[in-house]
Amino acid sequence: MSVYLNNGATTWPKPVCVPEAINQFILGRGANLARGSSSGRDIDTLDLVTTTRQKLARFFGGFRKADPRYVTFTGNVTESLNIVMKGYLRSGHHAVTTSMEHNSVMRPLRRLEAGGVRLTMLECDSRGLLDPGDLLALLERKQVDLFVFSHASNVCGTIQPLAEIASICLKAGIPCVLDSAQTAGVCPIDVESLGLSACCFTGHKGMMGPPGIGGVVWEPEFAAKVFPLIEGGTGSFSDDERHPEKMPDRFEAGTPNLPGIAGLSAAVDWIFETGIDSISEREKRLGKRFFEGVEGTPGLELYGLPAEGERLPVFAMNFTGIDNGTAAMELSDRWGIETRPGLHCAPRAHRTLGSYPSGALRISVGYFNTEQEIDIAIEAVRTIAKEHQA
Ligand code: ALA
Repeated sequence: MSVYLNNGATTWPKPVCVPEAINQFILGRGANLARGSSSGRDIDTLDLVTTTRQKLARFFGGFRKADPRYVTFTGNVTESLNIVMKGYLRSGHHAVTTSMEHNSVMRPLRRLEAGGVRLTMLECDSRGLLDPGDLLALLERKQVDLFVFSHASNVCGTIQPLAEIASICLKAGIPCVLDSAQTAGVCPIDVESLGLSACCFTGHKGMMGPPGIGGVVWEPEFAAKVFPLIEGGTGSFSDDERHPEKMPDRFEAGTPNLPGIAGLSAAVDWIFETGIDSISEREKRLGKRFFEGVEGTPGLELYGLPAEGERLPVFAMNFTGIDNGTAAMELSDRWGIETRPGLHCAPRAHRTLGSYPSGALRISVGYFNTEQEIDIAIEAVRTIAKEHQA
């Protein structure tokens, strides 16, 4: 028996409608997008893509009455963040982020820094939380061109105060870009009422879709200021050798991941039907059960906020008597529990939490986990801590 507790890496299993939709697309439809003769199959694909854009615009409370043209499909949130940051920031610009970022934010910013973009990193506290007052104070002192940050930590689950941060940026007239990798599908995000400039998302985590599909939801005026990173065939304006300016073509080129879009479309339907509130309530309950089951275990250190805090059920921990990589292997070999040890592609976040360079063992709970699985994990973590107590 296996107990999947690596939902921070990708949620699994997926609602059954997701693989069914992928299967149905490949077996029964399968036409490319806007690159055919307008046969029934071509129209079917166009309908799939347009309908999915509409659903996503609604899902994220999109701009201008959820105009679907302002939803861009990408391969994942890393690609989305690269498109936004590298398309907007220029030498001499000042970008600001936090010390809890994943490499999907950090590495593009470091590349841009090498090209002349100034970078300020706001330090979060040892629970991974940003003090919005620090952002406010910086904006009062310095010219800032972009603030980009992750809604919740992929390492320890800490959720940042999004509404407060977005409102500070809005008042200061600074574009605010959200990395919603860990929260989309689990926390409600309304891009228009928050006044975000761009919301980058991935389909395969809380959104319950397959890997390989993600996107950006754009504020229209901001989108117009972003230089397209990827240019090529769009199946439109084919008489022009220059890439179209019009949305959604502006940021899309090449054949999209159509099976991924089919899967994501079904996943979003599933979330609408199930309800974000009930998904989040179930995950919180399971997470609280785990946290309370292991809290205070001798030889175990937990990072991040307490169970009742603004957090996701993503738990980072270390044992005093065994390194986190070996502990992950023991959990897998002895109990069939799948986790993720190490640095989670977020070295600066681990520095902030005090777990760098060895990282931590991450246990991340998902909607389809059961109470019985959580109890197995509690027992296993307690056993490892006891057996290896330094
Ligand atoms: N960023 C993903 C994780 O945290 C893949 O595991």
